[in-house]
Amino acid sequence: MKKILIISGSPKTDGNTDIAVKWLTDAISKSRAHIEIIKTSKLNYKSLGCISCRACQSRQEYGCVIKDDVQDVLKKTIDADTIIFATPLYFFGCSAQTKLIFDKWFSLYKWDNTTNTMKTPLQGKTLAVIATAYEDIGLDALEKPFKLTAEYSNMKFLSLLIKNAGVSGQIKKLEDAEEKIASFAFNLLSF
Ligand SMILES: Cc1cc2nc3c(=O)[nH]c(=O)nc-3n(C[C@H](O)[C@H](O)[C@H](O)COP(=O)(O)O)c2cc1C
Repeated sequence: MKKILIISGSPKTDGNTDIAVKWLTDAISKSRAHIEIIKTSKLNYKSLGCISCRACQSRQEYGCVIKDDVQDVLKKTIDADTIIFATPLYFFGCSAQTKLIFDKWFSLYKWDNTTNTMKTPLQGKTLAVIATAYEDIGLDALEKPFKLTAEYSNMKFLSLLIKNAGVSGQIKKLEDAEEKIASFAFNLLSF
């Protein structure tokens, strides 16, 4: 059974991101996949994002050494087949609440400077992004860091960028949005 982890990074409840995630999970639920959703604004943090202590690089285990809720998110990330970041567009990038988790992916890599090699349990998994924006520009900029990270990590990559979604809740008025999300879910499952 495919394990799908959705990291939902809007600070709003029932906004465009939450609605998009709901439509996505409704569509995925028709399959036998296992879905878990983590709302990043509800987590408890001891450190806000990666603090570049590099303690993760001096141990064998993958994951952050800082004992907060992100440790569990990272464990679930390692365990998942597909990781989906859902985020609103904030100033041409993902939300800060999304980035808090994304930067901690640093702890999911081991770099060996002597052999110039890198290992990661992310290899072979699928990374997906679903993002909404008020306007019709900027989502390509948001997508890029995720796409490049997937390439760097030998992950498969898929994205759904929803422009003109309006302010929180208005995605419901956008013609075809639910349909596009359902077909994105279908692509994800057959990826
Ligand atoms: C801090 C902030 C920055 C934003 N920056 C952009 C932007 O650069 N371009 C854009 O089209 N929309 C921008 N928006 C609008 C949101 O991306 C858009 O309304 C999104 O669908 C909201 O999703 P949510 O309801 O899940 O929070 C911004 C909203 C906020 C609160």
